[in-house]
Amino acid sequence: MNNTLKLKFKFSDKNKIKAKKILKKYPKKFSRSAILPLLHLVQDQLEGWLSKDSIEYISKFLNVPLINVYEVASFYHMYNLKKVGKNCINVCTTTPCWLRGSDIILKKFEQKLNVKVGETTKDNLFSLNEIECLGACVDAPVIKINNNYYENLKLDDIQKIIKNLKR
Ligand code: FES
Repeated sequence: MNNTLKLKFKFSDKNKIKAKKILKKYPKKFSRSAILPLLHLVQDQLEGWLSKDSIEYISKFLNVPLINVYEVASFYHMYNLKKVGKNCINVCTTTPCWLRGSDIILKKFEQKLNVKVGETTKDNLFSLNEIECLGACVDAPVIKINNNYYENLKLDDIQKIIKNLKR
């Protein structure tokens, strides 16, 4: 790891141990394959998002060009490049979910949380995003909140979900 550039982000001691364990899974010349799991680790540490300097940190940690880490971080919807609320609600609006009413579900969340897509509530409890297929089309419509899937969603479920998450 190159330490010439001072970055604000660094792995916690616990995560540094985890990161080293992750690295051991890959042959040295393929260490860039660890970008995905390391970005997950960063996102957990930062409570749901990847700051610019954390992406730079991973680039230095793996000794891979910054653009390679950034292109992974910006390609997958599971990574957030800006701060999100405690509960990050991702509504799938790809065709199978859309055919089963995901656009109405999205509107309902906007209405109940008083935010638009891409925004976070003032109390920082919820962020709302529209995303592409979550790979669970058979149970459309599907949403993902943090790491949990909610499938076969009905409009009536929305209020219950919000209430439960507020507890
Ligand atoms: S289209 Fe929504 S989960 Fe696949």
